[in-house]
Amino acid sequence: MKLSRAALGLVLLAPLAVRAVEPISLGLALAGVLTGYISYPRLYCLFAECCSQKQSLSRDALQKDLDSKLFGQHLAKKVILNAVSGFISNPKPKKPLTLSLHGWTGTGKNFVSKIIAENIYEGGLNSDYVHLFVATLHFPHVSNITLYKDQLQSWIRGNVSACARSIFIFDEMDKMHAGLIDAIKPYLDYYDNLDGVSYQKAIFVFLSNAGAERITDVALDFWRSGKQREEIKLRDMEHALSVSAFNNKNTVLQ
Ligand SMILES: *[C@@H]1O[C@H](CO)[C@@H](O)[C@H](O)[C@H]1NC(C)=O
Ligand SMILES: *[C@@H]1O[C@H](CO)[C@@H](O)[C@H](O)[C@H]1NC(C)=O
Repeated sequence: MKLSRAALGLVLLAPLAVRAVEPISLGLALAGVLTGYISYPRLYCLFAECCSQKQSLSRDALQKDLDSKLFGQHLAKKVILNAVSGFISNPKPKKPLTLSLHGWTGTGKNFVSKIIAENIYEGGLNSDYVHLFVATLHFPHVSNITLYKDQLQSWIRGNVSACARSIFIFDEMDKMHAGLIDAIKPYLDYYDNLDGVSYQKAIFVFLSNAGAERITDVALDFWRSGKQREEIKLRDMEHALSVSAFNNKNTVLQ
């Protein structure tokens, strides 16, 4: 109804040459233009949350958020800022971004993951593209480890297939069963693709309590290989947040 009125309006306003075109076919053409325009991803993403949203994250906005919400963690802020903004602006990262944050409760590690999520997706932690797993909540029974492993792998695979820029946050890494950590490892490596899915644009954030680091140290050996230049430890600062970013050095620490 509306459309034919619009088409009619157009016919009346249009110059002579166009007026000769039948209203019906003009209506169809107009409808085609409209739907074509609306399905254009950019416009669509104005109204709905999109996987491709904010692919160009604002470094300034992230910095502002970190500055206003994360106090007294200068080095941690710098590492996070460089790692995340470098990674997002890299069109062809060689491997997913892996951030590992250690700190006592209150050092802001959960805040950091929230800030990262919010700067990439408007919905933040509630976004369809951000997945939070808490070890004691999602994977509580050691006896179910095989089931968890299969589930976790299929979730990571399914979500990254749907959106390459998926974010996975694992809280309580220190309480996570080593077998489950093993299940995640393949996704963190330099594979072009794994069974047809590329994980290179995904982001993995691991949170663990300081003091429990010994436990994770053993399980996380894999990430630590080749860490020398890329890892910054801040353990000398009491109550500090310790951050490790594991990625190709050009995209992480400048
Ligand atoms: C998971 O663990 C619970 C409690 O240990 C058990 O009742 C249930 O059968 C397990 N499920 C599977 C699929 O192993
Ligand atoms: C994505 O991950 C969530 C868990 O965060 C899971 O429930 C969902 O099934 C996954 N989607 C796919 C397509 O695997």
